[in-house]
Amino acid sequence: MQRPQTLSAPEGRLAVFLPGLGAVSTTFIAGCLLSRRGLARPIGSLTQTGTIRLGKRTESRTPRISDFVPLARLEDLCFAAWDLYPEDAYESAVQANVLEARHLEPIREELAAIRPMPAVFYPEYVKRLHGTNVKTVGSKADMVEAVRDDVRRFRAASGCARAVAVWCGSTEIYLEPSPAHASIASFEKALLENDPSISNSMIYAWAFLKEGVPFANGAPNLTVDVPAMQELAREMQTPICGKDFKTGQTLMKTILAPGLKARMLGVRGWFSTNILGNRDGEVLDDPDNFKSKEVSKLGVLEHILQPSVYPELYGDLYHKVRINYYPPRGDAKEGWDNIDIFGWLGYPMQIKVDFLCRDSILAAPIVLDLALFLDLAQRAGFRGVQEWLSFYFKTPMTAPGLYPEHDLFIQLMKLKNTLRWMMGEELITHLGHEYYD
Ligand SMILES: NC(=O)c1ccc[n+]([C@@H]2O[C@H](COP(=O)([O-])OP(=O)(O)OC[C@H]3O[C@@H](n4cnc5c(N)ncnc54)[C@H](O)[C@@H]3O)[C@@H](O)[C@H]2O)c1
Repeated sequence: MQRPQTLSAPEGRLAVFLPGLGAVSTTFIAGCLLSRRGLARPIGSLTQTGTIRLGKRTESRTPRISDFVPLARLEDLCFAAWDLYPEDAYESAVQANVLEARHLEPIREELAAIRPMPAVFYPEYVKRLHGTNVKTVGSKADMVEAVRDDVRRFRAASGCARAVAVWCGSTEIYLEPSPAHASIASFEKALLENDPSISNSMIYAWAFLKEGVPFANGAPNLTVDVPAMQELAREMQTPICGKDFKTGQTLMKTILAPGLKARMLGVRGWFSTNILGNRDGEVLDDPDNFKSKEVSKLGVLEHILQPSVYPELYGDLYHKVRINYYPPRGDAKEGWDNIDIFGWLGYPMQIKVDFLCRDSILAAPIVLDLALFLDLAQRAGFRGVQEWLSFYFKTPMTAPGLYPEHDLFIQLMKLKNTLRWMMGEELITHLGHEYYD
């Protein structure tokens, strides 16, 4: 990355493109609409509430992040979505049953005006869903063109000066990188040949990148985590990031594990199980779709605890993750963790976590921050994989050959230092100058 010479101001409106108009998308949109009317507060969003320390502690300079870097304002956001179900954002939010009527009714009209565009939907990637609001054009290459057309039409109609996209669609079946994903040329050939290794989310992402629209991947889908996409993102001067919003249980894991490791406490086992009953849970009930999520959730501990560096503490760690679809719970997920740890002289101890969380309430602020930071990154001239946004993901994408950083606190430091560097401020090392000044 090069330090930006000029960072243009966020003038005009910002289009936020959302493939998938389900629980997360509607909770995110509703939160933005309510916040800009002063009817609720965007809690959990770093861009809206976070601060950043600048210079030495003695300088007492701690502005809000939104006053430090030039971010788009909530008032400037316009929303567009695709879904295979035809319900508008109001109906979809009611169905998702995340927000109460006291939050939906005041913004009912604005939500109802957001109608999903027909989806790119080849059902083999998400077998549990059956919708009718789908595109029916020829090949996968034609599908890319149809999405590009949607993007251009919405931008023209809304008068948005800039755009970003955040994937809030379902988790697709597990896919491995294949030769079709190796380069721009092989990917474009595969699109023409309807190659099965190109999923729905890849079609959208290709279209966004071709239009120079930054893309964040909120699901564990492979999507932009392949060389062809990264090549195209660099060529189009467009930032990308992913994968899989870090909420709920994995958020807790990346808060707790760094603490245990910091104190050199051993971990023998970590058993995580969830019950959830929303549409996401229904999709994840299919073993092929669950595999994508399982792989995404399992990598976290390995990278934080580094068993190869600390074999006596973490070498025998048994890590298990389960997700169970349980309709009565809806979006109000429950995640249990049993952690078997050991300390001084090897004496065993246990930690039990029972997190009664709300999935979409934790995911919505992430969508907002990613939309605003991706827009900032593009104006700063950043392109390709944005590792400084790892803070938001379960499986952060990295430059080829590097391992991902999962520790939430290192991720936050990296994010804030990137903002300081972007704005020409000194990086914070936490070194005590008083010892040698
Ligand atoms: N809520 C969380 O805490 C959280 C955390 C991490 C990741 N995620 C991921 O975010 C995504 C959204 O979660 P959700 O709870 O809103 O799920 P949801 O099922 O409520 O919404 C997803 C929507 O995407 C639609 N969809 C599926 N394929 C599509 C396609 N090809 N084109 C357009 N629309 C499509 C579905 O019809 C559905 O309405 C899921 O992939 C989920 O795994 C959510």
